[in-house]
Amino acid sequence: MYKIIDGKAISEKIKEEIAEEVKLMVASGKRAPHLAVVIVGHDGGSETYVAHKVKSCLQVGFKSTKVTFEEDVPEAELLAKIDEMNHDETLDGFIVQLPLPKHISEQKVIEAIDYRKDVDGFHPVNVGRMIIGLPCYVSATPSGIVELLKRYEIPTAGKNCVVIGRSNIVGKPVAALMMQKGYPGDATVTVCHSRTKNMKEICLQADIIIAALGRPEFLTGDMVKNGAAIIDVGTTRVPSTKTKTGFRLCGDVKFDEVAPKCSFITPVPGGVGPMTIVSLLKNTLLAAKKEIY
Ligand SMILES: NC(=O)c1ccc[n+]([C@@H]2O[C@H](COP(=O)([O-])OP(=O)(O)OC[C@H]3O[C@@H](n4cnc5c(N)ncnc54)[C@H](OP(=O)(O)O)[C@@H]3O)[C@@H](O)[C@H]2O)c1
Repeated sequence: MYKIIDGKAISEKIKEEIAEEVKLMVASGKRAPHLAVVIVGHDGGSETYVAHKVKSCLQVGFKSTKVTFEEDVPEAELLAKIDEMNHDETLDGFIVQLPLPKHISEQKVIEAIDYRKDVDGFHPVNVGRMIIGLPCYVSATPSGIVELLKRYEIPTAGKNCVVIGRSNIVGKPVAALMMQKGYPGDATVTVCHSRTKNMKEICLQADIIIAALGRPEFLTGDMVKNGAAIIDVGTTRVPSTKTKTGFRLCGDVKFDEVAPKCSFITPVPGGVGPMTIVSLLKNTLLAAKKEIY
């Protein structure tokens, strides 16, 4: 019988742990951690994510600031604001919600953020330090995934781990974490992408599959060996007649086929998603405590 990895429950537990630490900090005379979130334009998805981030900050006792810009803000104006935030000593960390409008270079924006305040962990300094195993801000989704493996005590040493997807925000960093020395790591990692041949044969060798490709129900039952642990990162909005919004979130795993074969599986929603915000809170707490830089 498979076990559901309950990301929602774990994330609530971690939020309680963070809230407890914040209480102690404040009781000892320190100020509460402060996270700022910058949003450009009015993309529905981004506005929802930002609202969740702000709400989660309040839940754990952080101060949060939302900085909004219109869709047509010049790149220079956004970069000037980032520079100001880099020097704002009342701010422990900040993020710029992606994606950005086409006229703004995301890479320029990421690199403009002081890596010591880059709690999204996207700055090349943090990515580089993560790869060589130095303390850093690990980006939220990969960090949430390994936290789930840890909390469910899923063995990783010497296991075959297949990551499907090689994006900079999920596939590549999670592959790097899974091959890192120590737990949860020490896995033998294979990374698949759109050019990979014989995906099914590769997946059938896997003890752990991390599906992060954004193709609804891509991973089917015939691609999974008995007893594998499955992490479904995918969140694609698909039309639904059963929800008020007319959409539902669909993962990259065909749950009904895969679940009966595996040992552990994350649901969508309620698996990796809730962990992502919690990882951002954890990074902000680390920033406030100056534990890394
Ligand atoms: N739950 C969360 O908190 C969270 C956070 C982030 C992302 N997500 C979700 O995770 C999914 C992936 O996100 P992302 O940002 O990493 O996506 P992305 O940037 O679009 O990258 C997708 C990756 O999957 C690969 N791919 C696409 N189709 C494939 C196929 N048919 N076979 C094998 N590989 C294929 C692509 O290969 P190429 O490189 O060859 O193009 C690419 O490397 C999306 O559904 C996203 O919404 C969820």
